[in-house]
Amino acid sequence: MSDPRRVQRMFDGIARRYDAFNTVASLGRDESWRRLTASIAAPQRVVCGLDAAAGTGKLSAALAARAEHVVALDFSAPMLVRGGPDLAARGLSERIHRVQGDVLALPFPDETFDCATIGFGLRNLADIPLGLREFRRTLKPGGRLAVLDIVRPRNAVGRAAYGVGFRRLMPLVGWALSGDRSAYQYLPDSVERHLDPDELAEAMTQAGFAKVSYRSLMLGSIAIHWGVAG
Ligand SMILES: C[S@@+](CC[C@H](N)C(=O)[O-])C[C@H]1O[C@@H](n2cnc3c(N)ncnc32)[C@H](O)[C@@H]1O
Repeated sequence: MSDPRRVQRMFDGIARRYDAFNTVASLGRDESWRRLTASIAAPQRVVCGLDAAAGTGKLSAALAARAEHVVALDFSAPMLVRGGPDLAARGLSERIHRVQGDVLALPFPDETFDCATIGFGLRNLADIPLGLREFRRTLKPGGRLAVLDIVRPRNAVGRAAYGVGFRRLMPLVGWALSGDRSAYQYLPDSVERHLDPDELAEAMTQAGFAKVSYRSLMLGSIAIHWGVAG
């Protein structure tokens, strides 16, 4: 479990360098993973989507290709502010509504959204089952949740690449880009503590999602889970 104040302070502190780090860490694949996640959450065009733990809004922008309106929610104001100019440059300011708030207490009525996404955020929540129930509560029946996150690979090749890449190289790259060593040590630590892909699928089912499934990417180090609100 993560201490929410510590997590919020950490993201406030790295907001300026967050997107650059993500692009380097994913070898330039992060945008295509976000597009895939958005297409899984909304296979057909919808009216209103939620992108929670939105950070600078990259996944919100991918979701805006499929939803007329997107609420981009995050508890870090600096992350939300940092994404503003990019969303404006893409002409998305009117359709992406940035809201400061907590995934664990979503400030929306029941059955508000047609679909929801969370990218590289679920693992940071202090209470993952509660976060999943909040998605379930605020989704309309039949609405899909898609979760994009880093996971510990199960296969030997993936585990070896993960060991070198995530445990050793990424904290150094993050340190070099942001000047903050502890923030990027948090990354592999949070992945180590996270549920494995089958456990996360089970947690989604327990939270009331049906037809839960997942897809592994990048030698099993990235997973996209999805489920349908019943
Ligand atoms: C690694 S960033 C991911 C940003 C973005 N979704 C992406 O695809 O790059 C994780 C974000 O989750 C936010 N976050 C973590 N816990 C949260 C919570 N309980 N409520 C709202 N935001 C949260 C952090 O502030 C941070 O911006």
